[in-house]
Amino acid sequence: MRIVLGIGGGIAAYKAAMLLRLFSEAGHHVVPIPTRAALQFVGAPTWEALSGEVVSTEVFDRVPTVNHVGQGQAADLIVVAPATADLLAKAAHGHADDLLTTTLLATRAPVLFAPAMHTEMWLNPAVRENVTKLRAHGHTVLDPVDGRLTGQDSGPGRLPDPEAIRDAAMQLATRTGRSGEGEHRVSVGEAAATQSSALTGLRAVVSTGGTQEPLDPVRYLGNRSSGKQGIAVAEALVSAGMTVDLVAAHVDVVLPQQPGISVTCVGSAVELQTAMQRKAAQADVVVMTAAVADFRPADIATAKIKKTEDDDDAPVIRLVRNPDILRGLVQDRQRHGRAQVIVGFAAETGDSDTDPITFGRAKLARKGCDLLCVNQVGTDLVFGQDQTTVTILCAADHGNATAEARDHDACEQTVTGTKSEVAQALCRRILDLVDRRGL
Ligand code: CTP
Repeated sequence: MRIVLGIGGGIAAYKAAMLLRLFSEAGHHVVPIPTRAALQFVGAPTWEALSGEVVSTEVFDRVPTVNHVGQGQAADLIVVAPATADLLAKAAHGHADDLLTTTLLATRAPVLFAPAMHTEMWLNPAVRENVTKLRAHGHTVLDPVDGRLTGQDSGPGRLPDPEAIRDAAMQLATRTGRSGEGEHRVSVGEAAATQSSALTGLRAVVSTGGTQEPLDPVRYLGNRSSGKQGIAVAEALVSAGMTVDLVAAHVDVVLPQQPGISVTCVGSAVELQTAMQRKAAQADVVVMTAAVADFRPADIATAKIKKTEDDDDAPVIRLVRNPDILRGLVQDRQRHGRAQVIVGFAAETGDSDTDPITFGRAKLARKGCDLLCVNQVGTDLVFGQDQTTVTILCAADHGNATAEARDHDACEQTVTGTKSEVAQALCRRILDLVDRRGL
């Protein structure tokens, strides 16, 4: 989506910088329009660097493009945060004396105001009236939260957290069909190209975390996967308009609780396989980010395994192979003639003869999935890190080989960034495949 972010002149303007980042990370194109007063708090270079847009507060800038109405006309959604008492008054009464207020008048896009001001101002009858008026005009005005304000005082008037504003904005976009739901559905390729989230009605299932293979009632064999990457993928797909089933093995982080993601928790690889098979039967997109144990103890002791009196005695644990879940899902797709997009992840070190990408290509062919995200790991591997480098490989020789797949550059895309940035890049590749398959 193209989101105009209006920023009012209040101390909470710094939180709008974080909101801008959240929207951008979700793949939206953000155009920040601060008021003159807002620039007293956070300067134009911050907005320009975060958005890549030239920032203006004035009606008479960029006149040849008729910018004062163009921004409002082009917007899919307008979010004003923080909305000061003055800005609410101007918007409620149709003033148009700067770029933000003209943009607010010259739009058909849904508008969300997130007010922030001192409690006395928020409770003042003039502000209450303006809020009522704006709501009557069909705009969404969030209530500020109760908490610490600029000085020593606290009470209702604090700007909600950027995440809460983002969630409210996304709900407004979905409700009004701006996120691409229903009739507004457009070509996904187009959406991917414009970084728009104009896709809905599709289901995805994403596995995440590390499986735990029980040895006895208190012990297990596990791994150090944090689950962060899978959660980031689930969030990116939801931002792209999909409904996501997140199947979580053990994770080190808090699982998402947001509209569009439903979470199922599992323990072992076999449990993960059962859940994935069931959910994949309904899914258009399947992403396996989970770190699955390749082996599990052949026998699970029913009571805790105890030491004997002999200090040298230690039990020998016999292992058996776990199913290859990803390969099984690819086989199911073939058996049932599904047009699903299936994605795997792999952490590869390479060895003295072979580089990690070559190993990745062999794995992609072995598993039969469409895309494989190869994480090149070395001795400095630290699970749970936020920064990562991933090469997305695509199946050139797959049954659904595309022009893209024959293009080497498109086939091998290296992304360095946060797990969320990697997830967004992957999401764009998935959207492209979804589009090509007419899902
Ligand atoms: N995977 C799976 N089932 C397994 C093992 C792995 O579904 N039993 C999936 C992972 O979720 C991942 C992909 O396969 O998406 C690659 O995982 P990886 O552990 O790199 O693959 P392995 O087949 O285990 O290969 P290796 O021998 O290199 O460990």
